[in-house]
Order: sequence, then C-alpha cells, then structure tokens
Amino acid sequence: MARRKKVYEGKAKILYEGPEPGTLIQYFKDDGGTVTAPKPGAQTEGKGVLNNRLSEFFMSGLNSIGVPTHFIRRLNMREQLVRMVEIIPIEVVVRNFAAGPLSQRLGIPEGTALPRPIVEYYYKDEKLGDPMVAEEHIIAFGWAGQQDLDDMVALALRVNDFLSGVMMGVGIRLADFRIEIGRIWEGDFMRLIVADEISPDSCRLWDMRAAERAEGMPASDPGPLADVYTELARRLGVLPSNVTHSPKPTLIN
Ligand code: CDP
Repeated sequence: MARRKKVYEGKAKILYEGPEPGTLIQYFKDDGGTVTAPKPGAQTEGKGVLNNRLSEFFMSGLNSIGVPTHFIRRLNMREQLVRMVEIIPIEVVVRNFAAGPLSQRLGIPEGTALPRPIVEYYYKDEKLGDPMVAEEHIIAFGWAGQQDLDDMVALALRVNDFLSGVMMGVGIRLADFRIEIGRIWEGDFMRLIVADEISPDSCRLWDMRAAERAEGMPASDPGPLADVYTELARRLGVLPSNVTHSPKPTLIN
C-alpha cells in the first residue's frame, strides 16, 4: 500500500491524509480502554473494529436525519473516510442521568434522572486534564463565539435525542456522552458539524434489561453494560463476523 501521511495520533485513533483534499482517513486502534474506565496502554481486542462500525452506525444515522457529521463512508474494518474539519477545542458533554463527577461534585446520587439534559463544556487540553469551563471562558478566550455555542448546544441536543432513542430501542440507557464539533467551510459559508467518533468510548451506557430483570429496583440500579463494545454492536445488529476472535483457517469440504 502507498505510504500515507499521518496527520495525528491519539489514544484510540490515527488520522491519515485522505484521498481527496478536505478528507481524512480515520483509523480505529484497539488501544485506550474506555474513557469512563480509562486503562492507559490497555488493549481491548477487536475494539477498533467495533468502534469503526458503531461510529459509522451513529454518524450515518445522524446524517440521514439532517444532523451534519464528518462521516462520509466506511472504507474497511478499521478505517473510515471523514471530512477534514477544524476542531473546536471544546468537548461538549450532555447528561441525562447523574453519574461520575457530576454526582461527586454536587452530591446527586448516581442514576438520578436529571430534570432536563445538562450540557457542559470541557476545554480540550490533556496537560490540564480537560478542565470544565463556562461559556464565559469560551467566549473570553476566543475558543468559540456566541453563535458557535448556540449551534453547538443545538447540535448536541439533537445528537442526544437521536442517541437516547436508538439506545432505548435496544434496552440501553444513555446516561451521558461527549461529542467533538468541528468547523467546515463551503465557499464563504462556515458551519459546524459533529466530528471525532460516537462509540462506547465516549458514552456512559447502562443496561436497562438487567434492571428490568430485577423487579422493584430503584432507578439508580441499571448497571454498566458489560462487554460494552460487543454487546452494543450485537444489539444494534452491526456486529461483523470474526471480530473478537482471530480468524483461524477452517477446512471446507
Ligand atoms: O467519564 P468520567 O466520569 O471521567 O467523566 P464525565 O464528565 O462524567 O464524562 C461524561 C461523558 O463524556 C462520559 O460518557 C465519558 O465517557 C465522556 N468523556 C469522553 O468521551 N472523553 C473525555 N475526555 C471525557 C469524558
């Protein structure tokens, strides 16, 4: 294969130059663990293959209902073609149920349904540990403008409605998730689109089926989805064959 230019390498993905201007190839690695259970250096066999499929499933679903994303098409087991964007250095988190730092900081028990979806912003800077920031910081430091923020919230809430519905259809509660958003230019016209990935690495997913089995359980009891990559892909019907097991030669009679 022709050598490709690596543009960026993160914990879970590599970006290469794409075949046409304005495109990139996004390669999904097996590294990284999940964000809600970070395991630096951890490898989950087959995770990259599943996240490639899962992100394709969510992003193409969003595209088809008119929520713009960077996803163009899947190329192979681990790669997808995406639009090149200028990433806004803000991670947008949407929460439907209390968990993690929100529960700890504010003393709200894990699993409490929030009265409305809560949108939070985190400044993308690993050295600083991606600190939470307010709109005031984002505007004052020029990371995004007020119109961008309005568009980012609108996008994030549409993604939330779509993802919550899809997950609910397969017995999963979307407690919270994170998206990244980028700018693209079409002539003089700039717009914001969903970028990066949507996968179990960026979502907190709880199994409602486990909760259904145990009668009378309080809302806080749906547990984390076990074997989250495979189980989510299986329930959504996007599990490719031979993903989690290395293919062995078989004798065909
Ligand atoms: O996940 P954690 O408890 O560390 O933090 P959080 O603020 O509750 O994360 C909210 C959501 O954003 C979770 O679904 C995380 O998986 C996701 N997230 C992410 O994808 N990337 C980050 N750098 C931080 C959070």
